[in-house]
Amino acid sequence: MALTQAGTTSGDGWSSRTAFILAAVGAAVGLGNIWRFPTLAGENGGGAFILVYIGFVILLGLPLVLSEILLGRAGGEDAIGSVRNVAAHSKRSEAWKGIGALQITAGFLILSFYSVVAGWVINYVFASGGDFLGALFSGEPFAGAFAGESQEEITGRMGELFANPALLIGLHAVFMAATVWIVASGVGDGIEKAAKWLMPAFFVLLVIVTLYGAIVTDEFGDAVAFMFTPDFSALNPTALNEALGQALFSLSLAAGGLLTYGAYVSRDVNLAPTATMIAFADTGVAMLAGLMIFPIVFSVGLDPAAGPALIFQSLPIAFNQMPAGSLIGFVFFTLIFFAALTSSISLLEGPTAWVIDRFRFRRPVAAILVGGVAFAIGVVCALGYNVLSEVRPLGFWDIFADSDILDTLDGFTGKIMLPLGAFLVAVFVGWFADRRLVQQQTGLSGGMFMLWRFLVAFVCPIAVGLVLLFGLFPGLITPAAAG
Ligand code: PHE
Repeated sequence: MALTQAGTTSGDGWSSRTAFILAAVGAAVGLGNIWRFPTLAGENGGGAFILVYIGFVILLGLPLVLSEILLGRAGGEDAIGSVRNVAAHSKRSEAWKGIGALQITAGFLILSFYSVVAGWVINYVFASGGDFLGALFSGEPFAGAFAGESQEEITGRMGELFANPALLIGLHAVFMAATVWIVASGVGDGIEKAAKWLMPAFFVLLVIVTLYGAIVTDEFGDAVAFMFTPDFSALNPTALNEALGQALFSLSLAAGGLLTYGAYVSRDVNLAPTATMIAFADTGVAMLAGLMIFPIVFSVGLDPAAGPALIFQSLPIAFNQMPAGSLIGFVFFTLIFFAALTSSISLLEGPTAWVIDRFRFRRPVAAILVGGVAFAIGVVCALGYNVLSEVRPLGFWDIFADSDILDTLDGFTGKIMLPLGAFLVAVFVGWFADRRLVQQQTGLSGGMFMLWRFLVAFVCPIAVGLVLLFGLFPGLITPAAAG
Protein backbone atom coordinates (compact mmCIF):
# COMPACT_ATOMS: atom_id res chain seq x y z
CA MET A 1 0.00 0.00 0.00
CA ALA A 2 1.54 3.27 -1.08
CA LEU A 3 0.90 5.87 1.53
CA THR A 4 2.78 8.68 -0.03
CA GLN A 5 0.38 10.21 -2.51
CA ALA A 6 -0.95 13.62 -1.61
CA GLY A 7 -4.56 14.59 -2.01
CA THR A 8 -7.52 12.30 -2.17
CA THR A 9 -9.90 10.87 -4.64
CA SER A 10 -12.60 13.20 -3.40
CA GLY A 11 -11.06 16.42 -4.66
CA ASP A 12 -8.48 19.08 -4.08
CA GLY A 13 -6.52 19.99 -0.96
CA TRP A 14 -5.73 23.04 1.17
CA SER A 15 -3.79 25.75 -0.60
CA SER A 16 -1.47 26.33 2.36
CA ARG A 17 -0.79 25.45 5.98
CA THR A 18 -2.57 28.61 7.07
CA ALA A 19 -5.61 27.60 5.08
CA PHE A 20 -5.68 24.26 6.84
CA ILE A 21 -5.32 25.86 10.25
CA LEU A 22 -8.16 28.27 9.53
CA ALA A 23 -10.39 25.48 8.29
CA ALA A 24 -9.57 23.23 11.24
CA VAL A 25 -10.00 26.03 13.77
CA GLY A 26 -13.22 26.88 11.97
CA ALA A 27 -14.35 23.29 12.43
CA ALA A 28 -13.38 23.31 16.08
CA VAL A 29 -14.77 26.70 17.06
CA GLY A 30 -18.54 26.60 16.94
CA LEU A 31 -21.70 26.25 18.94
CA GLY A 32 -19.65 23.99 21.18
CA ASN A 33 -17.52 26.90 22.35
CA ILE A 34 -20.13 29.61 22.62
CA TRP A 35 -23.33 27.79 23.46
CA ARG A 36 -22.42 24.41 24.94
CA PHE A 37 -19.25 25.27 26.87
CA PRO A 38 -20.57 28.26 28.88
CA THR A 39 -23.81 26.37 29.46
CA LEU A 40 -22.05 23.31 30.86
CA ALA A 41 -19.54 25.34 32.83
CA GLY A 42 -22.39 27.35 34.31
CA GLU A 43 -24.42 24.27 35.20
CA ASN A 44 -21.44 22.50 36.75
CA GLY A 45 -20.36 25.30 39.02
CA GLY A 46 -17.66 26.96 36.89
CA GLY A 47 -14.07 26.64 38.14
CA ALA A 48 -13.64 22.94 38.84
CA PHE A 49 -15.39 21.94 35.64
CA ILE A 50 -13.25 24.31 33.61
CA LEU A 51 -10.07 23.07 35.24
CA VAL A 52 -10.96 19.48 34.43
CA TYR A 53 -11.90 20.55 30.94
CA ILE A 54 -8.52 22.18 30.36
CA GLY A 55 -6.79 19.10 31.76
CA PHE A 56 -8.70 16.88 29.35
CA VAL A 57 -7.81 19.14 26.43
CA ILE A 58 -4.09 19.01 27.18
CA LEU A 59 -3.72 15.37 28.19
CA LEU A 60 -6.28 13.79 25.87
CA GLY A 61 -7.51 16.29 23.31
CA LEU A 62 -4.20 17.54 22.04
CA PRO A 63 -2.63 14.08 21.46
CA LEU A 64 -5.84 12.90 19.85
CA VAL A 65 -6.08 15.89 17.50
CA LEU A 66 -2.61 15.04 16.27
CA SER A 67 -3.53 11.34 16.00
CA GLU A 68 -6.59 12.01 13.86
CA ILE A 69 -4.96 14.51 11.53
CA LEU A 70 -2.01 12.17 10.97
CA LEU A 71 -4.28 9.20 10.28
CA GLY A 72 -6.10 11.29 7.71
CA ARG A 73 -2.95 12.52 6.04
CA ALA A 74 -1.29 9.12 6.05
CA GLY A 75 -4.41 7.44 4.68
CA GLY A 76 -5.19 10.15 2.15
CA GLU A 77 -8.86 9.33 1.63
CA ASP A 78 -12.21 9.75 3.33
CA ALA A 79 -12.37 8.81 7.03
CA ILE A 80 -13.11 5.14 6.40
CA GLY A 81 -10.68 4.75 3.51
CA SER A 82 -7.87 6.47 5.41
CA VAL A 83 -8.08 4.20 8.43
CA ARG A 84 -8.37 1.17 6.14
CA ASN A 85 -5.23 2.28 4.24
CA VAL A 86 -3.23 2.81 7.38
CA ALA A 87 -4.40 -0.54 8.77
CA ALA A 88 -3.42 -2.30 5.55
CA HIS A 89 -0.03 -0.60 5.53
CA SER A 90 0.43 -1.70 9.14
CA LYS A 91 -0.66 -5.28 8.24
CA ARG A 92 -3.64 -5.08 10.55
CA SER A 93 -7.21 -6.22 10.15
CA GLU A 94 -9.39 -4.28 7.76
CA ALA A 95 -11.99 -4.12 10.52
CA TRP A 96 -10.21 -1.08 11.95
CA LYS A 97 -11.90 0.95 9.26
CA GLY A 98 -14.93 0.68 11.53
CA ILE A 99 -13.37 3.62 13.42
CA GLY A 100 -13.98 5.72 10.34
CA ALA A 101 -17.53 4.44 10.01
CA LEU A 102 -18.30 5.17 13.65
CA GLN A 103 -16.86 8.66 13.32
CA ILE A 104 -18.68 9.50 10.12
CA THR A 105 -21.94 8.33 11.65
CA ALA A 106 -21.34 10.48 14.73
CA GLY A 107 -20.56 13.52 12.60
CA PHE A 108 -23.62 12.94 10.49
CA LEU A 109 -25.90 12.69 13.53
CA ILE A 110 -24.32 15.76 15.13
CA LEU A 111 -24.87 17.69 11.89
CA SER A 112 -28.56 16.91 11.94
CA PHE A 113 -29.23 18.49 15.35
CA TYR A 114 -26.45 21.08 15.08
CA SER A 115 -28.24 22.63 12.15
CA VAL A 116 -31.45 22.90 14.17
CA VAL A 117 -29.67 24.80 16.95
CA ALA A 118 -27.93 26.97 14.36
CA GLY A 119 -31.43 27.74 13.08
CA TRP A 120 -32.27 29.21 16.50
CA VAL A 121 -29.19 31.38 16.12
CA ILE A 122 -30.41 32.59 12.72
CA ASN A 123 -33.75 33.44 14.30
CA TYR A 124 -31.94 35.65 16.82
CA VAL A 125 -29.72 37.18 14.13
CA PHE A 126 -32.87 38.33 12.36
CA ALA A 127 -34.71 39.34 15.51
CA SER A 128 -31.79 41.33 16.88
CA GLY A 129 -30.87 42.69 13.45
CA GLY A 130 -34.41 43.98 12.97
CA ASP A 131 -34.36 45.35 16.47
CA PHE A 132 -31.12 47.20 15.81
CA LEU A 133 -32.37 48.62 12.52
CA GLY A 134 -35.48 49.81 14.31
CA ALA A 135 -33.37 51.52 16.94
CA LEU A 136 -31.18 53.06 14.27
CA PHE A 137 -34.06 54.50 12.30
CA SER A 138 -35.74 55.90 15.36
CA GLY A 139 -32.53 57.80 16.01
CA GLU A 140 -31.41 55.68 18.99
CA PRO A 141 -28.59 53.51 17.70
CA PHE A 142 -27.35 52.93 21.24
CA ALA A 143 -30.62 51.73 22.71
CA GLY A 144 -30.86 48.51 24.68
CA ALA A 145 -32.05 45.41 22.87
CA PHE A 146 -35.79 44.85 22.47
CA ALA A 147 -36.54 48.18 24.11
CA GLY A 148 -39.99 48.36 25.59
CA GLU A 149 -40.34 44.60 26.01
CA SER A 150 -40.73 43.09 29.45
CA GLN A 151 -38.45 40.29 30.65
CA GLU A 152 -41.26 37.83 30.10
CA GLU A 153 -41.71 39.03 26.54
CA ILE A 154 -38.01 38.67 25.82
CA THR A 155 -37.66 35.19 27.27
CA GLY A 156 -41.00 34.31 25.71
CA ARG A 157 -39.44 34.73 22.27
CA MET A 158 -37.73 31.40 22.64
CA GLY A 159 -40.94 29.65 23.63
CA GLU A 160 -42.68 31.18 20.64
CA LEU A 161 -39.95 29.94 18.36
CA PHE A 162 -40.12 26.44 19.83
CA ALA A 163 -43.89 26.33 19.49
CA ASN A 164 -43.61 27.10 15.78
CA PRO A 165 -42.54 23.96 13.90
CA ALA A 166 -42.69 25.62 10.48
CA LEU A 167 -40.32 28.37 11.56
CA LEU A 168 -37.93 25.97 13.30
CA ILE A 169 -37.80 23.75 10.24
CA GLY A 170 -37.51 26.68 7.86
CA LEU A 171 -34.50 28.11 9.71
CA HIS A 172 -32.94 24.67 9.93
CA ALA A 173 -33.44 24.34 6.15
CA VAL A 174 -31.73 27.68 5.52
CA PHE A 175 -28.72 26.71 7.61
CA MET A 176 -28.42 23.26 6.08
CA ALA A 177 -28.72 24.71 2.58
CA ALA A 178 -25.89 27.15 3.30
CA THR A 179 -23.76 24.29 4.61
CA VAL A 180 -24.49 22.11 1.59
CA TRP A 181 -23.76 24.96 -0.78
CA ILE A 182 -20.29 25.56 0.70
CA VAL A 183 -19.35 21.88 0.79
CA ALA A 184 -20.67 21.38 -2.74
CA SER A 185 -18.35 24.18 -3.92
CA GLY A 186 -15.29 22.11 -3.05
CA VAL A 187 -12.47 22.03 -0.55
CA GLY A 188 -10.58 25.02 -1.94
CA ASP A 189 -13.42 27.06 -3.41
CA GLY A 190 -15.94 26.28 -0.69
CA ILE A 191 -14.61 25.18 2.68
CA GLU A 192 -11.31 27.03 2.58
CA LYS A 193 -12.82 30.23 1.26
CA ALA A 194 -15.57 30.21 3.88
CA ALA A 195 -13.05 29.73 6.68
CA LYS A 196 -10.81 32.48 5.30
CA TRP A 197 -13.59 35.05 5.52
CA LEU A 198 -15.68 33.88 8.40
CA MET A 199 -13.01 33.04 10.97
CA PRO A 200 -11.23 36.41 11.02
CA ALA A 201 -14.60 38.15 11.13
CA PHE A 202 -15.60 35.89 13.99
CA PHE A 203 -12.47 36.72 16.00
CA VAL A 204 -12.90 40.46 15.57
CA LEU A 205 -16.53 40.30 16.71
CA LEU A 206 -15.65 38.05 19.65
CA VAL A 207 -13.05 40.50 20.89
CA ILE A 208 -15.46 43.43 20.46
CA VAL A 209 -18.20 41.84 22.55
CA THR A 210 -15.76 40.63 25.22
CA LEU A 211 -14.24 44.10 25.57
CA TYR A 212 -17.70 45.59 25.67
CA GLY A 213 -18.67 43.31 28.55
CA ALA A 214 -15.43 44.06 30.38
CA ILE A 215 -15.90 47.82 30.02
CA VAL A 216 -19.64 48.24 30.41
CA THR A 217 -20.22 45.83 33.31
CA ASP A 218 -18.51 45.75 36.67
CA GLU A 219 -18.60 41.98 36.77
CA PHE A 220 -15.55 40.98 34.78
CA GLY A 221 -13.70 40.11 37.97
CA ASP A 222 -16.62 38.05 39.23
CA ALA A 223 -16.71 36.19 35.96
CA VAL A 224 -13.00 35.42 36.21
CA ALA A 225 -13.50 34.22 39.78
CA PHE A 226 -16.47 32.10 38.77
CA MET A 227 -14.56 30.51 35.92
CA PHE A 228 -11.26 29.93 37.63
CA THR A 229 -11.95 29.28 41.31
CA PRO A 230 -12.43 25.54 41.54
CA ASP A 231 -15.12 24.13 43.79
CA PHE A 232 -14.43 20.43 43.62
CA SER A 233 -17.62 19.50 45.38
CA ALA A 234 -19.38 20.35 42.11
CA LEU A 235 -17.61 17.46 40.39
CA ASN A 236 -19.24 14.08 40.02
CA PRO A 237 -18.94 11.28 37.44
CA THR A 238 -21.58 12.88 35.27
CA ALA A 239 -19.72 16.18 35.27
CA LEU A 240 -16.48 14.39 34.31
CA ASN A 241 -18.25 12.60 31.49
CA GLU A 242 -19.74 15.88 30.40
CA ALA A 243 -16.35 17.63 30.47
CA LEU A 244 -14.76 14.91 28.37
CA GLY A 245 -17.65 14.80 25.91
CA GLN A 246 -17.42 18.57 25.63
CA ALA A 247 -13.64 18.53 25.09
CA LEU A 248 -14.02 15.96 22.31
CA PHE A 249 -17.00 17.77 20.79
CA SER A 250 -15.32 21.14 20.90
CA LEU A 251 -12.09 19.91 19.32
CA SER A 252 -14.16 18.20 16.61
CA LEU A 253 -12.65 14.86 17.61
CA ALA A 254 -14.14 11.49 16.78
CA ALA A 255 -16.68 12.91 14.35
CA GLY A 256 -14.85 12.32 11.09
CA GLY A 257 -14.04 15.99 10.53
CA LEU A 258 -10.35 15.98 11.44
CA LEU A 259 -9.68 12.64 9.76
CA THR A 260 -11.19 14.02 6.59
CA TYR A 261 -9.56 17.45 6.77
CA GLY A 262 -6.25 15.75 7.54
CA ALA A 263 -6.34 14.00 4.18
CA TYR A 264 -6.21 17.38 2.44
CA VAL A 265 -3.01 18.47 4.20
CA SER A 266 0.15 18.41 2.13
CA ARG A 267 3.14 16.29 3.14
CA ASP A 268 5.40 19.20 4.03
CA VAL A 269 3.22 20.50 6.87
CA ASN A 270 4.66 19.76 10.29
CA LEU A 271 1.68 18.29 12.09
CA ALA A 272 2.61 18.48 15.77
CA PRO A 273 2.78 22.28 16.04
CA THR A 274 -0.22 22.59 13.76
CA ALA A 275 -2.35 20.33 15.95
CA THR A 276 -1.19 22.25 19.01
CA MET A 277 -2.26 25.54 17.50
CA ILE A 278 -5.68 24.17 16.64
CA ALA A 279 -6.28 22.81 20.14
CA PHE A 280 -5.08 26.01 21.82
CA ALA A 281 -7.10 28.26 19.56
CA ASP A 282 -10.24 26.26 20.26
CA THR A 283 -9.72 26.28 24.00
CA GLY A 284 -8.80 29.94 23.98
CA VAL A 285 -12.05 30.76 22.25
CA ALA A 286 -14.04 28.73 24.77
CA MET A 287 -12.42 30.69 27.62
CA LEU A 288 -13.01 33.99 25.84
CA ALA A 289 -16.62 32.99 25.28
CA GLY A 290 -16.98 32.48 29.02
CA LEU A 291 -15.37 35.85 29.68
CA MET A 292 -17.69 37.36 27.12
CA ILE A 293 -20.90 35.82 28.44
CA PHE A 294 -20.61 35.56 32.23
CA PRO A 295 -19.95 39.26 33.00
CA ILE A 296 -23.03 40.15 30.99
CA VAL A 297 -25.12 37.47 32.71
CA PHE A 298 -23.89 38.53 36.17
CA SER A 299 -24.37 42.22 35.51
CA VAL A 300 -28.12 41.80 35.50
CA GLY A 301 -28.14 39.26 38.30
CA LEU A 302 -29.05 36.24 36.19
CA ASP A 303 -28.21 32.62 36.93
CA PRO A 304 -25.13 31.18 35.17
CA ALA A 305 -26.73 27.74 35.49
CA ALA A 306 -29.65 28.60 33.23
CA GLY A 307 -28.83 25.72 30.90
CA PRO A 308 -29.42 25.87 27.16
CA ALA A 309 -31.49 29.03 27.59
CA LEU A 310 -28.38 30.92 28.74
CA ILE A 311 -27.57 32.59 25.47
CA PHE A 312 -31.07 32.67 24.00
CA GLN A 313 -32.91 34.05 27.02
CA SER A 314 -30.52 35.35 29.66
CA LEU A 315 -28.31 37.30 27.29
CA PRO A 316 -31.14 39.04 25.43
CA ILE A 317 -32.48 40.18 28.83
CA ALA A 318 -29.05 41.50 29.67
CA PHE A 319 -28.70 43.23 26.30
CA ASN A 320 -32.05 44.84 26.98
CA GLN A 321 -30.63 46.62 29.99
CA MET A 322 -27.24 47.56 28.61
CA PRO A 323 -26.19 50.58 26.57
CA ALA A 324 -25.99 49.79 22.85
CA GLY A 325 -27.40 46.38 23.73
CA SER A 326 -29.37 46.30 20.54
CA LEU A 327 -26.24 46.61 18.41
CA ILE A 328 -24.23 44.23 20.59
CA GLY A 329 -27.00 41.65 20.55
CA PHE A 330 -26.94 41.67 16.78
CA VAL A 331 -23.15 41.40 16.68
CA PHE A 332 -23.25 38.58 19.25
CA PHE A 333 -25.65 36.36 17.33
CA THR A 334 -23.93 37.07 14.05
CA LEU A 335 -20.60 35.87 15.42
CA ILE A 336 -22.19 32.66 16.67
CA PHE A 337 -23.70 32.12 13.26
CA PHE A 338 -20.28 32.44 11.58
CA ALA A 339 -18.75 29.99 14.03
CA ALA A 340 -21.56 27.49 13.56
CA LEU A 341 -21.28 27.56 9.79
CA THR A 342 -17.56 26.79 9.65
CA SER A 343 -18.21 23.84 11.98
CA SER A 344 -21.20 22.42 10.18
CA ILE A 345 -19.29 22.32 6.91
CA SER A 346 -16.71 20.06 8.55
CA LEU A 347 -19.50 17.84 9.87
CA LEU A 348 -20.95 17.54 6.38
CA GLU A 349 -17.58 17.10 4.68
CA GLY A 350 -16.85 13.80 6.49
CA PRO A 351 -19.82 11.80 5.21
CA THR A 352 -19.76 13.64 1.88
CA ALA A 353 -16.14 12.70 1.19
CA TRP A 354 -17.04 9.11 1.97
CA VAL A 355 -19.98 9.11 -0.45
CA ILE A 356 -17.74 10.61 -3.14
CA ASP A 357 -14.99 8.03 -2.62
CA ARG A 358 -17.29 5.06 -2.17
CA PHE A 359 -19.95 5.66 -4.80
CA ARG A 360 -18.04 7.97 -7.16
CA PHE A 361 -20.76 10.58 -6.92
CA ARG A 362 -20.00 14.10 -7.97
CA ARG A 363 -19.36 16.39 -5.02
CA PRO A 364 -22.51 18.50 -5.26
CA VAL A 365 -24.68 15.41 -5.58
CA ALA A 366 -23.04 13.78 -2.57
CA ALA A 367 -23.34 16.95 -0.48
CA ILE A 368 -27.01 17.40 -1.32
CA LEU A 369 -27.74 13.76 -0.60
CA VAL A 370 -26.03 13.68 2.79
CA GLY A 371 -27.32 17.12 3.74
CA GLY A 372 -30.83 16.09 2.74
CA VAL A 373 -30.91 13.05 4.98
CA ALA A 374 -29.37 14.98 7.88
CA PHE A 375 -32.01 17.64 7.31
CA ALA A 376 -34.76 15.05 7.63
CA ILE A 377 -33.40 13.82 10.96
CA GLY A 378 -33.13 17.42 12.11
CA VAL A 379 -36.80 17.93 11.28
CA VAL A 380 -37.66 15.20 13.76
CA CYS A 381 -35.50 16.98 16.38
CA ALA A 382 -37.28 20.27 15.70
CA LEU A 383 -40.66 18.59 16.08
CA GLY A 384 -39.46 17.33 19.45
CA TYR A 385 -40.14 20.82 20.83
CA ASN A 386 -43.77 20.94 19.84
CA VAL A 387 -45.65 18.17 18.04
CA LEU A 388 -43.49 15.40 19.50
CA SER A 389 -42.66 17.06 22.80
CA GLU A 390 -43.71 14.02 24.82
CA VAL A 391 -41.31 11.71 23.02
CA ARG A 392 -38.29 10.44 24.98
CA PRO A 393 -36.48 8.27 22.41
CA LEU A 394 -34.27 6.50 24.96
CA GLY A 395 -36.57 7.04 27.91
CA PHE A 396 -36.02 3.49 29.17
CA TRP A 397 -32.35 4.31 29.81
CA ASP A 398 -31.89 6.24 33.03
CA ILE A 399 -29.25 8.66 31.73
CA PHE A 400 -31.56 9.67 28.87
CA ALA A 401 -34.85 9.39 30.74
CA ASP A 402 -35.64 13.12 30.62
CA SER A 403 -34.11 13.88 27.23
CA ASP A 404 -36.24 15.11 24.35
CA ILE A 405 -35.31 14.09 20.81
CA LEU A 406 -32.58 16.67 20.24
CA ASP A 407 -31.09 16.23 23.71
CA THR A 408 -31.05 12.48 23.23
CA LEU A 409 -29.13 12.77 19.97
CA ASP A 410 -26.78 15.31 21.53
CA GLY A 411 -26.26 13.13 24.61
CA PHE A 412 -25.90 9.86 22.73
CA THR A 413 -23.29 11.24 20.34
CA GLY A 414 -21.47 13.32 22.97
CA LYS A 415 -21.45 10.87 25.85
CA ILE A 416 -21.15 7.58 23.98
CA MET A 417 -20.15 7.79 20.33
CA LEU A 418 -17.43 10.45 20.68
CA PRO A 419 -15.70 8.85 23.69
CA LEU A 420 -15.89 5.45 21.99
CA GLY A 421 -14.49 6.86 18.74
CA ALA A 422 -11.70 8.64 20.58
CA PHE A 423 -10.88 5.50 22.58
CA LEU A 424 -10.54 3.45 19.40
CA VAL A 425 -8.36 6.05 17.69
CA ALA A 426 -6.03 6.07 20.68
CA VAL A 427 -5.80 2.28 20.75
CA PHE A 428 -5.26 2.04 17.02
CA VAL A 429 -2.64 4.80 16.73
CA GLY A 430 -1.01 3.88 20.04
CA TRP A 431 -0.80 0.13 19.56
CA PHE A 432 -1.65 -1.12 16.10
CA ALA A 433 -0.63 1.43 13.48
CA ASP A 434 2.88 1.11 12.06
CA ARG A 435 5.22 2.91 14.46
CA ARG A 436 7.56 4.25 11.77
CA LEU A 437 4.74 5.64 9.71
CA VAL A 438 3.18 7.26 12.75
CA GLN A 439 6.38 8.83 14.00
CA GLN A 440 7.30 10.14 10.59
CA GLN A 441 3.84 11.72 10.23
CA THR A 442 3.98 13.47 13.59
CA GLY A 443 7.32 15.03 12.84
CA LEU A 444 8.19 14.46 16.51
CA SER A 445 11.39 12.86 17.67
CA GLY A 446 13.11 11.72 20.85
CA GLY A 447 11.48 12.54 24.14
CA MET A 448 8.62 14.49 22.62
CA PHE A 449 7.60 11.52 20.53
CA MET A 450 7.81 9.25 23.55
CA LEU A 451 5.72 11.61 25.61
CA TRP A 452 3.10 11.90 22.89
CA ARG A 453 3.03 8.16 22.36
CA PHE A 454 2.69 7.58 26.09
CA LEU A 455 -0.33 9.88 26.18
CA VAL A 456 -1.92 8.24 23.16
CA ALA A 457 -1.17 4.62 24.06
CA PHE A 458 -1.78 4.71 27.80
CA VAL A 459 -3.35 7.87 29.15
CA CYS A 460 -6.01 8.35 26.47
CA PRO A 461 -7.43 4.82 26.38
CA ILE A 462 -7.49 4.48 30.16
CA ALA A 463 -8.91 7.93 30.92
CA VAL A 464 -11.40 7.96 28.08
CA GLY A 465 -12.42 4.37 28.82
CA LEU A 466 -12.99 5.10 32.51
CA VAL A 467 -14.93 8.27 31.91
CA LEU A 468 -17.08 6.48 29.35
CA LEU A 469 -17.76 3.64 31.76
CA PHE A 470 -18.62 5.84 34.72
CA GLY A 471 -20.63 8.20 32.55
CA LEU A 472 -22.78 5.32 31.37
CA PHE A 473 -23.03 3.75 34.80
CA PRO A 474 -22.84 6.59 37.31
CA GLY A 475 -23.82 4.14 40.05
CA LEU A 476 -20.42 2.44 39.79
CA ILE A 477 -18.70 5.22 41.75
CA THR A 478 -21.27 6.73 44.04
CA PRO A 479 -24.59 4.98 44.41
CA ALA A 480 -26.11 8.38 45.20
CA ALA A 481 -25.16 9.72 41.79
CA ALA A 482 -27.17 7.03 40.06
CA GLY A 483 -30.48 8.61 40.86
N1 PHE B 1 -16.38 21.49 17.30
C1 PHE B 1 -17.64 21.99 16.86
C2 PHE B 1 -18.16 22.95 17.90
O1 PHE B 1 -17.55 23.14 18.92
C3 PHE B 1 -18.63 20.90 16.59
C4 PHE B 1 -18.09 19.80 15.78
C5 PHE B 1 -17.99 18.53 16.30
C6 PHE B 1 -17.64 20.03 14.49
C7 PHE B 1 -17.45 17.50 15.59
C8 PHE B 1 -17.08 19.00 13.75
C9 PHE B 1 -16.99 17.74 14.30
O2 PHE B 1 -19.19 23.54 17.73
